[in-house]
Amino acid sequence: MPIETTATVVAEVPDDPELLAVPYASDLRPAHAVELHLPVSDLLAHYEAKGEAGEIVEVPVARAGGVGRVLLYGVGDGSPRALRKAAAALTRKVKGKDTLTVVVPDGDAAAFVEAALLAAYSFKIGNAGKKAVRTLAFTGAGEEELRRARTVAQAVALARDLANTPSSVKNPAWLAERAAETGLPVKVWDEERLQADGFGGILAVGRGSVSPPRLIQLSYTPDEPAERHVVLVGKGITFDSGGLSLKPTENMKTQKTDMAGGAVVIAVLAALAELRAPVRVTGLVAAAENMPSGTAQRPSDVIKHYGGRTVEVLNTDAEGRLVLADALAYADAELGPDAVVDIATLTGAITVALGRNVGAVFASDDLLAEQLVEAGQASDDRLWRMPLIEDYTPALESPIADLANVESGSRFGAGSITAALFLREFAGKRPWAHLDIAGVGRSTVDDGTLSKGATGFGVRVLLEWLTRV
Ligand code: BES
Ligand code: MN
Ligand code: ZN
Repeated sequence: MPIETTATVVAEVPDDPELLAVPYASDLRPAHAVELHLPVSDLLAHYEAKGEAGEIVEVPVARAGGVGRVLLYGVGDGSPRALRKAAAALTRKVKGKDTLTVVVPDGDAAAFVEAALLAAYSFKIGNAGKKAVRTLAFTGAGEEELRRARTVAQAVALARDLANTPSSVKNPAWLAERAAETGLPVKVWDEERLQADGFGGILAVGRGSVSPPRLIQLSYTPDEPAERHVVLVGKGITFDSGGLSLKPTENMKTQKTDMAGGAVVIAVLAALAELRAPVRVTGLVAAAENMPSGTAQRPSDVIKHYGGRTVEVLNTDAEGRLVLADALAYADAELGPDAVVDIATLTGAITVALGRNVGAVFASDDLLAEQLVEAGQASDDRLWRMPLIEDYTPALESPIADLANVESGSRFGAGSITAALFLREFAGKRPWAHLDIAGVGRSTVDDGTLSKGATGFGVRVLLEWLTRV
């Protein structure tokens, strides 16, 4: 479901709002001029408010129709980060209510509104739980800021919806249908065309499933002729059982979100027109279901990727790199991009390295890495650059094929780095970056802008990067 909360702009605070939110800074002074006819400083002191972002002091007030409430809310240092936290706290506070009028603090209004909307997201099958507030009426934000915030938040919601959908519903063909619904030109390779064009990695991973694999291509072309062409590649494993290298139940039960990278690619492409992004963007989603069966690939099989390179599959659970390799090789050979960025829930090891709040970026190009880290900082999809350590490249040598998909012993370790090194072999010589979102793709908590389950991580950073000129 998209976010159902409506965000509107109102020129001024209405006469008798039932629910009104007013900001104050860390010095306990109002963060925006609004006449309340309340002893605000005394009230804040009385409730021992500190002015932190996320803090809310609730004050009952007399209204024409009875009793209304003013929510005095802290905005901390007023930074975009603090404003996001404050906004999300407000939305969560007024669950089940009809309208909240929000006086927007000074600062980044788009970030504030976006976070308020994201906190209203939930994925439910059936009618469980309280509904999010119906309307957020913002005073002090512009229409343009609101439009951007809405577009970005709905794109994140789309990515979350796709990834939260159970794998009994979604399969590679289903994902291709969702891509077509964006209204963008879409090209889909079915099994036959994958075979004809030599996409041996995608086919090998999909072989064990009754739902055949797909490669999905979406194209966005801006109105004005663009100088740059970017290709985004998403991992679209609609369920990762591990294949014959089967995962234990505990690790398997989260793997419906193993197409989170692909979901981000679809959602980003869908939002580019609305945000008038000035670059040409091609999205590729390498979609397959990784299942064990009598037709599944076996550990020790040798497969041939797009372009002809051979890989010895030593572990069928290292399947993401196999589908991505095909798509990366295809992008390099056929699409002639200026930069390629792939996004994937690739390795459990990245959660050990960076945890659940910060995503990893590996890059062959310093400028590209810098731009992505900066866009991540600005958009709140934070990224940390990880190294491509050359000493570890022998980990992927195979005695019988061009490469092995995993290290056969344990001399090198560094599971996330060796995975990135594997992908690099297929990305060609163009600037390339790889986002490993296995740690940040799912949330275990309902908190702030996050809801339990898929996070849509990657949508905000990529939209920020692609809309900067
Ligand atoms: N989809 C998993 C990675 C993953 C793990 C995502 C946990 C989200 C949460 C990936 O396909 C995988 O199985 N990776 C293996 C690689 C190993 C076999 C080299 C892993 O991380 O264990
Ligand atoms: Mn796997
Ligand atoms: Zn996987």
